[in-house]
Amino acid sequence: MTIRATQNPKVPFSMFALTVKNFMVGAFKKKPIPKLYKTAISEKATGGLTLKEAAQKRGVFIGAAIGDVDSPAVQELFPNHFNSATAENAMKWGELRKSLAGSYDFSKADAIVDYALSHHARMRGHTLVWGKFPGHGSPKDIAEVLNKAEDPRKMLMAILEEHIFTVMEHFKGRVLTWDVVNEPFELFGANVDQSVFHQVLGLDFIPLAFSLARQADPNVKLFLNETIYNYSDKKAANFLKLIRDLRAQNVPIDGIGLQSHMMTELPSLPEFRNYTKQLAELGFEIELTELDASISLFRKEKNPYQAQSDFYREYIGACLESGACKGITFWGMYDRDNWMDQLPPLIPFRPNNPLLFDEDMFWKPAYDGVLEALRK
Ligand code: XIL
Repeated sequence: MTIRATQNPKVPFSMFALTVKNFMVGAFKKKPIPKLYKTAISEKATGGLTLKEAAQKRGVFIGAAIGDVDSPAVQELFPNHFNSATAENAMKWGELRKSLAGSYDFSKADAIVDYALSHHARMRGHTLVWGKFPGHGSPKDIAEVLNKAEDPRKMLMAILEEHIFTVMEHFKGRVLTWDVVNEPFELFGANVDQSVFHQVLGLDFIPLAFSLARQADPNVKLFLNETIYNYSDKKAANFLKLIRDLRAQNVPIDGIGLQSHMMTELPSLPEFRNYTKQLAELGFEIELTELDASISLFRKEKNPYQAQSDFYREYIGACLESGACKGITFWGMYDRDNWMDQLPPLIPFRPNNPLLFDEDMFWKPAYDGVLEALRK
């Protein structure tokens, strides 16, 4: 059997079509989205609790992904508003270790961890095993090494063990929650991705990764992190089925991370409520791990930035209602530096402005929406 290097995610035709459509909308119809908030910024936010204080009172984490720890936005915004941090890229396998032929370099990840801990924040580890994007999610030569191995299965088990132990030992006592497996499913499909891990080990790669992680550090929370766009589609159902099976096999999973990137559609709130309720009933903790909703999704509303705020309030509120929701992490700090602007269907709508602070680091209505959800 030849092990194929994981291909970049298959993009369905509908995504290409959407990209083309968005470019046309962008070129012909795009009106600037009015910012009606500069004068209407909340009393609550300015006079009352900060997000971090409200989260602490509520006993949950409010976090942000940190890309560049030296960026002025991080230095300005992180300490006062967030009590949890995720390294946007620095802890991914292929970033820590470019190739299996080379060694680990922890310097960037350590700088983020030191920074977060010096501000008394909890650190989420992201991520140990991710089948997508070799060279970023995993070392670039992983398929090549496995193809040369006499027994690829045995070899991959040894590689996973070495990786999980090395990284978790390195961050022991400093990283308290790990995304052990990230995005096992196809990005836009409903099945488990044909990653190198899946090709070689079948579905066993998931229980294996979790049991290695539990052995490496019994004192951290272990999460399975996935991106679901629509909580009633086939992917959502298959993911739920997978985690039920893993639960039945006593795989040591403490929590489910719902990434919550909202790029082309907003999820239905009743469906989301129902989904989180089911996760809670299975005994999982839940975290919203990579939340961002493009402002383009609200462009038809009278006051788009207020609508974005309302959405965050309701979505986070629904998660908290489940009783199992322990953390909410935004995928960035401020709109000038947001991941969505790199995504083809969203490029025409740049800036996508999904975050809590705007390009000038001004508080957005979204900040108040989150605050209200936490204070309820
Ligand atoms: C993204 C980062 O934000 C980008 O800077 C990088 O180029 C690619 O990865 N799901 C995940 C995250 O689990 O790790 C991804 O982060 C976004 C989608």
